[in-house]
Amino acid sequence: MKYIFSEETTFLVTGCAGFIGSNLSEYILSIGYKVIGLDNFSTGKKENMNNFIDNQNFKFIKGDIRDKNTCETAVTGVDYVLHQAALGSIPRSINNPYESNDSNVNGFLNLIIASKNCGVKRFVFASSSSVYGDHPKLPKVEGVEGKILSPYALTKKIDEEYGRLFYEIYGLPTIGLRYFNVFGKRQDPNSVYAAVIPKFIKALLDKRRPTIFGDGFFSRDFTYIQNVIDANLLSCLSTNDSFGEVFNIACGDRVSIIDLYNSIAKELKSEIEPLYSGVRKGDVPHSNANISKAKKMLEYNPRYSFEEGLKITIKWYKVFLGE
Ligand SMILES: NC(=O)c1ccc[n+]([C@@H]2O[C@H](COP(=O)([O-])OP(=O)(O)OC[C@H]3O[C@@H](n4cnc5c(N)ncnc54)[C@H](O)[C@@H]3O)[C@@H](O)[C@H]2O)c1
Repeated sequence: MKYIFSEETTFLVTGCAGFIGSNLSEYILSIGYKVIGLDNFSTGKKENMNNFIDNQNFKFIKGDIRDKNTCETAVTGVDYVLHQAALGSIPRSINNPYESNDSNVNGFLNLIIASKNCGVKRFVFASSSSVYGDHPKLPKVEGVEGKILSPYALTKKIDEEYGRLFYEIYGLPTIGLRYFNVFGKRQDPNSVYAAVIPKFIKALLDKRRPTIFGDGFFSRDFTYIQNVIDANLLSCLSTNDSFGEVFNIACGDRVSIIDLYNSIAKELKSEIEPLYSGVRKGDVPHSNANISKAKKMLEYNPRYSFEEGLKITIKWYKVFLGE
């Protein structure tokens, strides 16, 4: 896959010290373009930027999107905004809805207003599969959403509506990407709000029994990080029929939690049995994306399957966590 932008093209990646933002920044720099990274280190870490912090095409701003001036400074001279900064995790938003709303909605609004005033070429932002809420239809199709189940999902739904409105009212070319359970290197395995893949890998490397919430038959459309990077860059190259729209970004397949567990255990040659606990509030039972819209309008095609991505990821954690 070759992404051709004009020389000196500059991207703003918010959340550049986090999992997705750091991978996105590293990739854009590796193909020769400039990145301005913005992060407040609320969940991200400086060491996530170790591979590129000294790159001469990278400029880091330590700042908070909840501050209007910071957003105005960050978008100055930027061609494409790839907005990843947010407080993730459904349980976190249930424990502290105010905090999630503040970064994910108020911060989002500051950044989209600054982007509009600056006239950026695209405002691409991270939404989430959680916006499908309790709708039972599988696979999930854009436009068929159910009742929202968590404050986090609500913040993402509000962002999507702002994205649509800013295109319709002000003509800002916005694109919302509904990520489905992204995984890959540098995803935090240690936080209480850690995602399932790094959590399982770390527990097995530490020879502990990880916990499965529910009976293990809930399923997810696990998406390797490179597919998400591709979706962001394709959005920057897309045509105006995609503006104001939202797209599922996933593999288009689903894997049960117990199958995921078994794949990780097999790869790590572990015979440790998982523990089971009750279903968590706000969790949807199944998540599986129809990716036809992104295929058709963004020319998105998942480059990596779940299995390929998982192998690469486990290999990385073995080194990172020192097996
Ligand atoms: N990882 C997934 O599976 C997944 C799924 C769906 C959607 N998303 C979305 O993708 C985006 C990136 O997620 P991630 O998994 O990389 O999470 P992450 O927590 O690793 O990264 C988020 C980054 O944003 C920064 N940040 C948070 N609030 C900020 C603020 N107010 N100002 C400046 N920086 C701030 C954090 O410090 C962190 O570095 C988020 O918008 C998230 O909601 C992720």
